[in-house]
Amino acid sequence: MMAKIKTAVLGATGTVGQRFVSLLASHPWFELVAVAASPASAGKRYADAVRGRWTPAVEVPTPVAGLTLARALEDRGAVAADVELAFSALDLDKETTRAVEEEYAASGVAVVSANSAHRWTEDVPMIIPEINAGHVALVDGQRARRRWGRGLLAVKPNCSLQSYVPVVKAWERFAPQRVSVTTLQAVSGAGRTLDDWPEMRDNVIPYIPGEEEKSEREPLKILGAVNGRRIRLAQRPAFSATCLRVPVSDGHLAAASIEFEKPATGDELRAALADFRPATAGLDLPSAPERFLYLYGDDDRPQPRRDRDVDGGMAVAVGRLHEDGGPRRWKFVALSHNTVRGAGGGAVLLAELLVAKGYISPA
Ligand SMILES: NC(=O)c1ccc[n+]([C@@H]2O[C@H](COP(=O)([O-])OP(=O)(O)OC[C@H]3O[C@@H](n4cnc5c(N)ncnc54)[C@H](OP(=O)(O)O)[C@@H]3O)[C@@H](O)[C@H]2O)c1
Repeated sequence: MMAKIKTAVLGATGTVGQRFVSLLASHPWFELVAVAASPASAGKRYADAVRGRWTPAVEVPTPVAGLTLARALEDRGAVAADVELAFSALDLDKETTRAVEEEYAASGVAVVSANSAHRWTEDVPMIIPEINAGHVALVDGQRARRRWGRGLLAVKPNCSLQSYVPVVKAWERFAPQRVSVTTLQAVSGAGRTLDDWPEMRDNVIPYIPGEEEKSEREPLKILGAVNGRRIRLAQRPAFSATCLRVPVSDGHLAAASIEFEKPATGDELRAALADFRPATAGLDLPSAPERFLYLYGDDDRPQPRRDRDVDGGMAVAVGRLHEDGGPRRWKFVALSHNTVRGAGGGAVLLAELLVAKGYISPA
Protein backbone atom coordinates (compact mmCIF):
# COMPACT_ATOMS: atom_id res chain seq x y z
CA MET A 1 0.00 0.00 0.00
CA MET A 2 1.31 3.46 -0.87
CA ALA A 3 2.36 5.75 2.02
CA LYS A 4 -0.20 8.44 2.68
CA ILE A 5 0.28 11.89 1.19
CA LYS A 6 0.81 14.53 3.88
CA THR A 7 -1.87 17.15 3.50
CA ALA A 8 -2.80 20.61 4.79
CA VAL A 9 -6.06 22.56 4.66
CA LEU A 10 -5.65 26.33 4.23
CA GLY A 11 -8.72 28.17 5.49
CA ALA A 12 -9.55 25.09 7.57
CA THR A 13 -11.95 26.89 9.92
CA GLY A 14 -14.40 28.14 7.26
CA THR A 15 -17.44 26.41 5.73
CA VAL A 16 -15.49 24.77 2.92
CA GLY A 17 -12.42 24.19 5.11
CA GLN A 18 -14.55 22.28 7.61
CA ARG A 19 -15.89 20.15 4.79
CA PHE A 20 -12.30 19.36 3.72
CA VAL A 21 -11.44 18.43 7.30
CA SER A 22 -14.39 16.05 7.62
CA LEU A 23 -13.76 14.45 4.20
CA LEU A 24 -10.05 13.94 4.91
CA ALA A 25 -10.52 12.45 8.40
CA SER A 26 -10.31 8.86 7.23
CA HIS A 27 -9.10 9.27 3.67
CA PRO A 28 -7.23 6.22 2.34
CA TRP A 29 -4.61 8.27 0.41
CA PHE A 30 -4.33 11.59 2.26
CA GLU A 31 -3.29 12.26 5.86
CA LEU A 32 -4.33 15.63 7.26
CA VAL A 33 -1.32 16.87 9.24
CA ALA A 34 -1.65 20.66 9.13
CA VAL A 35 -4.48 23.18 9.41
CA ALA A 36 -4.11 26.90 8.81
CA ALA A 37 -6.39 29.93 8.89
CA SER A 38 -6.22 33.64 9.77
CA PRO A 39 -4.09 35.12 12.58
CA ALA A 40 -7.28 35.31 14.67
CA SER A 41 -7.52 31.51 14.76
CA ALA A 42 -3.77 30.77 14.81
CA GLY A 43 -2.37 29.10 17.93
CA LYS A 44 -5.76 27.60 18.88
CA ARG A 45 -6.58 23.91 18.92
CA TYR A 46 -8.67 23.19 15.85
CA ALA A 47 -11.64 21.98 17.92
CA ASP A 48 -11.61 25.21 19.97
CA ALA A 49 -11.34 27.44 16.90
CA VAL A 50 -14.44 25.92 15.24
CA ARG A 51 -16.54 25.56 18.41
CA GLY A 52 -19.97 27.06 17.77
CA ARG A 53 -19.45 27.26 14.00
CA TRP A 54 -18.81 23.63 13.03
CA THR A 55 -21.42 22.76 10.35
CA PRO A 56 -20.77 19.19 9.03
CA ALA A 57 -23.15 16.54 10.39
CA VAL A 58 -20.22 14.51 11.79
CA GLU A 59 -18.22 15.47 14.92
CA VAL A 60 -14.86 17.24 14.56
CA PRO A 61 -12.58 14.27 13.72
CA THR A 62 -10.43 13.27 16.71
CA PRO A 63 -6.94 13.43 15.18
CA VAL A 64 -7.63 16.89 13.75
CA ALA A 65 -9.34 18.28 16.87
CA GLY A 66 -5.98 18.54 18.65
CA LEU A 67 -3.98 20.09 15.78
CA THR A 68 -2.79 23.65 16.41
CA LEU A 69 -3.81 26.13 13.73
CA ALA A 70 -1.03 27.91 11.85
CA ARG A 71 -1.32 31.22 9.97
CA ALA A 72 -1.91 30.34 6.32
CA LEU A 73 0.08 33.31 5.02
CA GLU A 74 2.74 34.18 7.60
CA ASP A 75 3.62 30.53 8.46
CA ARG A 76 3.63 29.39 4.83
CA GLY A 77 7.23 28.14 4.93
CA ALA A 78 6.64 25.89 7.95
CA VAL A 79 3.33 24.52 6.65
CA ALA A 80 4.74 23.88 3.17
CA ALA A 81 7.75 22.05 4.62
CA ASP A 82 5.44 19.50 6.27
CA VAL A 83 3.13 18.60 3.39
CA GLU A 84 2.99 17.43 -0.22
CA LEU A 85 -0.60 18.56 -0.85
CA ALA A 86 -2.66 21.56 0.31
CA PHE A 87 -6.36 22.19 -0.19
CA SER A 88 -7.09 25.90 -0.34
CA ALA A 89 -10.38 27.19 1.11
CA LEU A 90 -9.08 30.66 1.86
CA ASP A 91 -11.37 33.62 1.62
CA LEU A 92 -9.08 36.54 0.80
CA ASP A 93 -8.98 39.13 -1.96
CA LYS A 94 -8.17 37.58 -5.33
CA GLU A 95 -4.70 39.07 -5.67
CA THR A 96 -3.56 37.82 -2.27
CA THR A 97 -5.11 34.39 -2.87
CA ARG A 98 -3.35 34.07 -6.22
CA ALA A 99 -0.01 35.01 -4.67
CA VAL A 100 -0.38 32.71 -1.64
CA GLU A 101 -1.42 29.70 -3.70
CA GLU A 102 1.48 30.27 -6.11
CA GLU A 103 3.93 30.58 -3.21
CA TYR A 104 2.82 27.22 -1.81
CA ALA A 105 3.16 25.63 -5.27
CA ALA A 106 6.61 27.18 -5.71
CA SER A 107 7.58 25.58 -2.39
CA GLY A 108 6.86 22.15 -3.89
CA VAL A 109 3.27 21.72 -2.66
CA ALA A 110 0.47 20.52 -4.93
CA VAL A 111 -2.29 23.09 -4.38
CA VAL A 112 -5.88 22.15 -5.16
CA SER A 113 -8.13 25.15 -4.66
CA ALA A 114 -11.82 25.80 -4.09
CA ASN A 115 -11.15 29.51 -4.57
CA SER A 116 -11.94 31.30 -7.82
CA ALA A 117 -8.72 33.37 -7.96
CA HIS A 118 -6.85 31.09 -10.40
CA ARG A 119 -9.75 29.78 -12.48
CA TRP A 120 -8.81 31.95 -15.45
CA THR A 121 -5.04 31.64 -15.10
CA GLU A 122 -4.10 30.26 -18.49
CA ASP A 123 -1.95 27.32 -17.39
CA VAL A 124 -4.16 26.31 -14.43
CA PRO A 125 -6.65 23.50 -15.17
CA MET A 126 -10.22 23.92 -13.88
CA ILE A 127 -11.63 20.45 -13.53
CA ILE A 128 -14.75 18.42 -12.84
CA PRO A 129 -12.96 15.05 -12.95
CA GLU A 130 -15.78 13.09 -14.61
CA ILE A 131 -15.96 15.63 -17.45
CA ASN A 132 -12.52 17.00 -18.26
CA ALA A 133 -9.96 14.81 -16.46
CA GLY A 134 -7.69 15.20 -19.52
CA HIS A 135 -7.08 18.86 -18.63
CA VAL A 136 -4.56 17.69 -15.97
CA ALA A 137 -2.09 17.65 -18.88
CA LEU A 138 -1.79 21.43 -18.40
CA VAL A 139 0.25 20.73 -15.27
CA ASP A 140 3.21 19.58 -17.41
CA GLY A 141 3.58 22.98 -19.07
CA GLN A 142 2.78 24.80 -15.83
CA ARG A 143 5.61 23.02 -14.01
CA ALA A 144 8.08 23.45 -16.86
CA ARG A 145 7.40 27.16 -17.33
CA ARG A 146 7.28 28.04 -13.64
CA ARG A 147 10.02 25.56 -12.57
CA TRP A 148 7.80 24.21 -9.82
CA GLY A 149 9.24 20.70 -9.47
CA ARG A 150 6.67 18.81 -7.38
CA GLY A 151 4.44 21.85 -6.90
CA LEU A 152 1.34 22.43 -9.00
CA LEU A 153 -1.88 24.40 -9.05
CA ALA A 154 -5.30 23.04 -10.04
CA VAL A 155 -8.77 24.39 -9.29
CA LYS A 156 -12.34 23.25 -9.20
CA PRO A 157 -15.05 25.40 -10.78
CA ASN A 158 -17.82 27.38 -9.10
CA CYS A 159 -20.40 25.42 -7.10
CA SER A 160 -23.37 26.84 -9.07
CA LEU A 161 -22.59 24.99 -12.31
CA GLN A 162 -21.80 21.48 -11.02
CA SER A 163 -25.42 20.43 -11.49
CA TYR A 164 -26.17 21.45 -15.09
CA VAL A 165 -22.77 21.21 -16.83
CA PRO A 166 -22.54 17.38 -16.36
CA VAL A 167 -25.97 17.07 -18.01
CA VAL A 168 -24.92 19.25 -20.93
CA LYS A 169 -21.77 17.13 -21.33
CA ALA A 170 -23.79 13.90 -21.34
CA TRP A 171 -25.90 15.34 -24.20
CA GLU A 172 -22.88 16.46 -26.25
CA ARG A 173 -23.82 14.36 -29.31
CA PHE A 174 -26.99 16.41 -29.83
CA ALA A 175 -24.81 19.52 -30.24
CA PRO A 176 -26.17 21.87 -27.53
CA GLN A 177 -26.30 25.45 -28.85
CA ARG A 178 -27.81 27.41 -25.98
CA VAL A 179 -28.44 26.76 -22.28
CA SER A 180 -30.53 29.13 -20.21
CA VAL A 181 -30.40 28.36 -16.51
CA THR A 182 -31.81 29.71 -13.26
CA THR A 183 -29.94 28.52 -10.18
CA LEU A 184 -31.55 28.34 -6.72
CA GLN A 185 -28.55 28.45 -4.41
CA ALA A 186 -28.28 27.40 -0.77
CA VAL A 187 -27.11 29.75 1.98
CA SER A 188 -24.01 27.62 2.72
CA GLY A 189 -22.73 28.78 -0.67
CA ALA A 190 -22.23 32.17 0.98
CA GLY A 191 -20.49 30.55 3.97
CA ARG A 192 -23.70 31.09 6.03
CA THR A 193 -26.36 29.01 7.78
CA LEU A 194 -30.12 29.57 8.08
CA ASP A 195 -29.54 30.34 11.78
CA ASP A 196 -26.97 33.09 11.24
CA TRP A 197 -28.79 34.63 8.26
CA PRO A 198 -32.31 35.54 9.50
CA GLU A 199 -32.95 37.74 6.43
CA MET A 200 -33.08 34.56 4.38
CA ARG A 201 -36.09 33.16 6.25
CA ASP A 202 -39.26 33.35 4.17
CA ASN A 203 -37.26 35.11 1.47
CA VAL A 204 -35.38 34.91 -1.83
CA ILE A 205 -32.56 37.27 -2.83
CA PRO A 206 -32.52 37.64 -6.62
CA TYR A 207 -28.83 38.51 -6.96
CA ILE A 208 -25.56 36.86 -5.96
CA PRO A 209 -22.60 39.12 -6.81
CA GLY A 210 -20.34 37.68 -9.51
CA GLU A 211 -22.19 34.38 -9.71
CA GLU A 212 -23.94 34.77 -13.05
CA GLU A 213 -20.73 35.58 -14.89
CA LYS A 214 -19.03 32.50 -13.38
CA SER A 215 -22.02 30.30 -14.21
CA GLU A 216 -21.90 31.43 -17.85
CA ARG A 217 -18.13 31.55 -18.49
CA GLU A 218 -16.61 28.70 -16.49
CA PRO A 219 -18.49 25.96 -18.39
CA LEU A 220 -16.70 27.07 -21.58
CA LYS A 221 -13.29 26.26 -20.07
CA ILE A 222 -14.48 22.94 -18.63
CA LEU A 223 -16.02 21.90 -21.95
CA GLY A 224 -12.98 23.20 -23.85
CA ALA A 225 -10.01 21.24 -25.20
CA VAL A 226 -6.31 21.16 -24.30
CA ASN A 227 -4.40 23.21 -26.84
CA GLY A 228 -0.70 23.10 -25.95
CA ARG A 229 -0.24 24.94 -22.66
CA ARG A 230 -3.74 26.36 -22.48
CA ILE A 231 -7.39 25.45 -22.92
CA ARG A 232 -9.20 26.38 -26.12
CA LEU A 233 -12.63 27.45 -24.88
CA ALA A 234 -15.74 25.69 -26.16
CA GLN A 235 -17.61 27.85 -28.69
CA ARG A 236 -20.97 26.24 -27.96
CA PRO A 237 -23.28 26.10 -26.13
CA ALA A 238 -23.76 29.71 -25.06
CA PHE A 239 -24.81 29.84 -21.40
CA SER A 240 -27.15 32.42 -19.89
CA ALA A 241 -27.62 32.33 -16.10
CA THR A 242 -29.76 33.94 -13.40
CA CYS A 243 -28.61 33.11 -9.88
CA LEU A 244 -30.90 33.37 -6.85
CA ARG A 245 -30.19 32.82 -3.14
CA VAL A 246 -32.96 30.71 -1.55
CA PRO A 247 -33.71 29.63 2.04
CA VAL A 248 -32.14 26.17 1.76
CA SER A 249 -29.22 25.07 3.95
CA ASP A 250 -27.28 22.97 1.39
CA GLY A 251 -27.74 21.99 -2.25
CA HIS A 252 -27.85 24.15 -5.36
CA LEU A 253 -30.76 23.42 -7.70
CA ALA A 254 -30.73 24.52 -11.35
CA ALA A 255 -33.76 24.84 -13.65
CA ALA A 256 -32.47 24.82 -17.21
CA SER A 257 -33.66 24.92 -20.78
CA ILE A 258 -31.40 23.66 -23.54
CA GLU A 259 -31.52 24.03 -27.30
CA PHE A 260 -29.87 21.40 -29.53
CA GLU A 261 -28.77 21.55 -33.14
CA LYS A 262 -29.88 17.93 -33.57
CA PRO A 263 -33.36 16.78 -32.56
CA ALA A 264 -33.58 14.43 -29.59
CA THR A 265 -36.30 12.26 -28.08
CA GLY A 266 -36.86 11.93 -24.34
CA ASP A 267 -35.76 8.30 -24.49
CA GLU A 268 -32.52 9.27 -26.24
CA LEU A 269 -31.78 11.95 -23.65
CA ARG A 270 -32.57 9.60 -20.74
CA ALA A 271 -30.35 6.91 -22.31
CA ALA A 272 -27.49 9.40 -22.74
CA LEU A 273 -27.68 10.24 -19.02
CA ALA A 274 -27.90 6.57 -18.01
CA ASP A 275 -25.00 5.55 -20.29
CA PHE A 276 -22.73 8.51 -19.53
CA ARG A 277 -19.21 7.20 -19.01
CA PRO A 278 -17.27 9.51 -16.66
CA ALA A 279 -13.72 10.39 -17.67
CA THR A 280 -12.66 8.88 -14.30
CA ALA A 281 -14.06 5.41 -15.11
CA GLY A 282 -11.59 2.67 -14.22
CA LEU A 283 -9.36 4.90 -12.07
CA ASP A 284 -10.87 3.67 -8.75
CA LEU A 285 -10.78 7.11 -7.15
CA PRO A 286 -11.89 6.75 -3.50
CA SER A 287 -14.27 9.75 -3.56
CA ALA A 288 -15.87 9.04 -6.95
CA PRO A 289 -19.59 8.37 -6.65
CA GLU A 290 -20.74 4.91 -7.63
CA ARG A 291 -22.91 6.62 -10.23
CA PHE A 292 -22.31 10.22 -11.36
CA LEU A 293 -25.75 11.07 -12.81
CA TYR A 294 -29.01 9.96 -11.18
CA LEU A 295 -32.15 10.42 -13.24
CA TYR A 296 -35.47 10.81 -11.40
CA GLY A 297 -38.77 9.99 -13.08
CA ASP A 298 -41.03 11.50 -10.39
CA ASP A 299 -42.10 15.04 -11.22
CA ASP A 300 -41.41 16.29 -7.68
CA ARG A 301 -37.72 15.31 -7.67
CA PRO A 302 -34.90 16.15 -7.24
CA GLN A 303 -35.34 18.15 -4.02
CA PRO A 304 -32.40 19.63 -2.06
CA ARG A 305 -33.35 18.15 1.30
CA ARG A 306 -34.10 14.68 -0.02
CA ASP A 307 -31.58 14.31 -2.81
CA ARG A 308 -28.49 16.46 -2.14
CA ASP A 309 -26.76 13.60 -0.27
CA VAL A 310 -27.17 10.98 -2.97
CA ASP A 311 -23.93 8.98 -3.19
CA GLY A 312 -22.40 10.92 -0.31
CA GLY A 313 -23.23 14.27 -1.93
CA MET A 314 -20.90 13.51 -4.86
CA ALA A 315 -23.52 12.63 -7.47
CA VAL A 316 -25.72 14.90 -9.58
CA ALA A 317 -29.50 14.38 -9.43
CA VAL A 318 -31.47 15.14 -12.61
CA GLY A 319 -35.24 15.29 -13.15
CA ARG A 320 -38.19 17.12 -14.71
CA LEU A 321 -37.01 16.31 -18.22
CA HIS A 322 -39.67 17.66 -20.57
CA GLU A 323 -39.92 18.92 -24.12
CA ASP A 324 -40.13 22.66 -24.64
CA GLY A 325 -42.02 23.10 -27.92
CA GLY A 326 -40.16 20.69 -30.20
CA PRO A 327 -37.46 17.98 -30.26
CA ARG A 328 -34.62 20.52 -30.30
CA ARG A 329 -35.65 22.25 -27.05
CA TRP A 330 -35.82 20.55 -23.68
CA LYS A 331 -36.07 21.55 -20.04
CA PHE A 332 -34.62 19.84 -16.99
CA VAL A 333 -33.84 20.36 -13.32
CA ALA A 334 -30.52 19.31 -11.75
CA LEU A 335 -29.18 19.34 -8.21
CA SER A 336 -25.75 19.04 -6.62
CA HIS A 337 -24.48 19.45 -3.07
CA ASN A 338 -22.64 22.76 -3.10
CA THR A 339 -20.17 22.21 -0.24
CA VAL A 340 -19.53 18.53 -1.08
CA ARG A 341 -19.50 18.06 -4.87
CA GLY A 342 -19.36 21.83 -5.39
CA ALA A 343 -16.43 22.47 -3.04
CA GLY A 344 -14.64 20.08 -0.65
CA GLY A 345 -15.63 16.77 -2.25
CA GLY A 346 -15.02 18.00 -5.79
CA ALA A 347 -11.56 19.25 -4.82
CA VAL A 348 -10.65 16.01 -3.01
CA LEU A 349 -11.74 14.04 -6.07
CA LEU A 350 -9.57 16.31 -8.23
CA ALA A 351 -6.57 15.67 -5.96
CA GLU A 352 -7.23 11.91 -6.25
CA LEU A 353 -7.25 12.27 -10.04
CA LEU A 354 -3.87 14.06 -9.88
CA VAL A 355 -2.50 11.19 -7.77
CA ALA A 356 -3.89 8.57 -10.16
CA LYS A 357 -2.29 10.41 -13.10
CA GLY A 358 1.10 10.54 -11.32
CA TYR A 359 1.21 14.28 -10.59
CA ILE A 360 1.13 13.92 -6.78
CA SER A 361 2.90 11.24 -4.78
CA PRO A 362 4.22 10.77 -1.24
CA ALA A 363 7.62 12.44 -0.67
N1 LIG B 1 -19.28 27.92 0.52
C1 LIG B 1 -19.34 27.28 -0.67
O1 LIG B 1 -20.30 26.53 -0.99
C2 LIG B 1 -18.22 27.43 -1.65
C3 LIG B 1 -18.24 26.62 -2.78
C4 LIG B 1 -17.18 26.70 -3.67
C5 LIG B 1 -16.14 27.56 -3.43
N2 LIG B 1 -16.13 28.36 -2.34
C6 LIG B 1 -14.97 29.23 -2.13
O2 LIG B 1 -14.17 28.68 -1.08
C7 LIG B 1 -13.51 29.72 -0.35
C8 LIG B 1 -13.88 29.63 1.12
O3 LIG B 1 -15.28 29.82 1.26
P1 LIG B 1 -16.00 29.64 2.67
O4 LIG B 1 -17.44 29.75 2.37
O5 LIG B 1 -15.50 28.43 3.35
O6 LIG B 1 -15.47 30.95 3.46
P2 LIG B 1 -15.44 31.20 5.03
O7 LIG B 1 -16.39 30.32 5.73
O8 LIG B 1 -15.54 32.66 5.23
O9 LIG B 1 -13.94 30.73 5.47
C9 LIG B 1 -12.81 31.48 5.09
C10 LIG B 1 -11.52 30.86 5.60
O10 LIG B 1 -10.42 31.72 5.22
C11 LIG B 1 -9.67 32.07 6.39
N3 LIG B 1 -9.11 33.41 6.29
C12 LIG B 1 -9.78 34.59 6.23
N4 LIG B 1 -8.89 35.61 6.23
C13 LIG B 1 -7.65 35.07 6.32
C14 LIG B 1 -6.33 35.60 6.37
N5 LIG B 1 -6.10 36.92 6.35
N6 LIG B 1 -5.29 34.74 6.45
C15 LIG B 1 -5.50 33.41 6.47
N7 LIG B 1 -6.73 32.84 6.44
C16 LIG B 1 -7.79 33.67 6.35
C17 LIG B 1 -10.67 31.99 7.54
O11 LIG B 1 -9.98 31.85 8.76
P3 LIG B 1 -10.60 32.40 10.15
O12 LIG B 1 -11.70 31.44 10.54
O13 LIG B 1 -9.45 32.35 11.08
O14 LIG B 1 -11.11 33.78 9.89
C18 LIG B 1 -11.46 30.74 7.12
O15 LIG B 1 -10.74 29.59 7.48
C19 LIG B 1 -13.99 31.03 -0.98
O16 LIG B 1 -13.04 31.44 -1.92
C20 LIG B 1 -15.29 30.64 -1.68
O17 LIG B 1 -15.56 31.48 -2.77
C21 LIG B 1 -17.15 28.31 -1.42
